[in-house]
Amino acid sequence: MLVLLNVQSPIYPQPDEVVAHPHIRTFHARHGRMSARRELALEQLLPNFEISELPRPIDLRTLTGQSHVIVDFGSVMGNHSLALAQTQPKVGILAIDVHTVGLLAVAEEATALGLSNLRTHHGDGMDVFKDWLTPASVSEIHILFPDPWPKARHHKRRLVSSAFLNIAFELLKPGGKFIFVTDDESYFASAFETFSDFKTLNVSQNDWDVPMTSYHQRALRLDNTVSQLSATKN
Ligand SMILES: C[S@@+](CC[C@H](N)C(=O)[O-])C[C@H]1O[C@@H](n2cnc3c(N)ncnc32)[C@H](O)[C@@H]1O
Repeated sequence: MLVLLNVQSPIYPQPDEVVAHPHIRTFHARHGRMSARRELALEQLLPNFEISELPRPIDLRTLTGQSHVIVDFGSVMGNHSLALAQTQPKVGILAIDVHTVGLLAVAEEATALGLSNLRTHHGDGMDVFKDWLTPASVSEIHILFPDPWPKARHHKRRLVSSAFLNIAFELLKPGGKFIFVTDDESYFASAFETFSDFKTLNVSQNDWDVPMTSYHQRALRLDNTVSQLSATKN
């Protein structure tokens, strides 16, 4: 049986609620249909990983049992989060996305592999970053191929802005870092400036092995230049 994606759920944000959030929406609203298998995963698997019902502040180090925590902001199908969680069992991972099917894929795969170092947030990551997490507790924030919002009138929807950095910076441990990767030249230029203007971040370019997520592969197929930076908290 097929059901609409935005079924009423007491736990998960519905697209309309997400859109109504007070901050600027940085993602595309998605509407679609979900298979019965996925509906079951939404009810039975995702809650095992989801952090939204936990008492706050949430310390991901305690939750994952790992002192080095990486947040994958905009994880979509979870290529990067799952690869990190498997290849680096001593690292804790938080995969964040509003994309229901992607988070379900993460929950299914993490369950099949018995991963205990991975958690999810199905919803707007800005909520998590604003006041859910323990300050200075995250080692790395990965922003891989964020929605580029190429039209000038949509640039305000780009995730990386000084407002975002002000909030996200507080979550990083001293020595912690942001990783930012995109194939959109204009986004890279503006993000580079935004990170560089942040006085307590040291910005470097091309100092990181960018994983081959599906968006990365697509960028290469299109012959786009992939640019990356890291910005380390002093
Ligand atoms: C282009 S995709 C990212 C691709 C992925 N990181 C990769 O490299 O394969 C951008 C994702 O960010 C998510 N996103 C954007 N803003 C978000 C927000 N505020 N909270 C949660 N997810 C967000 C979108 O839903 C989308 O799935």
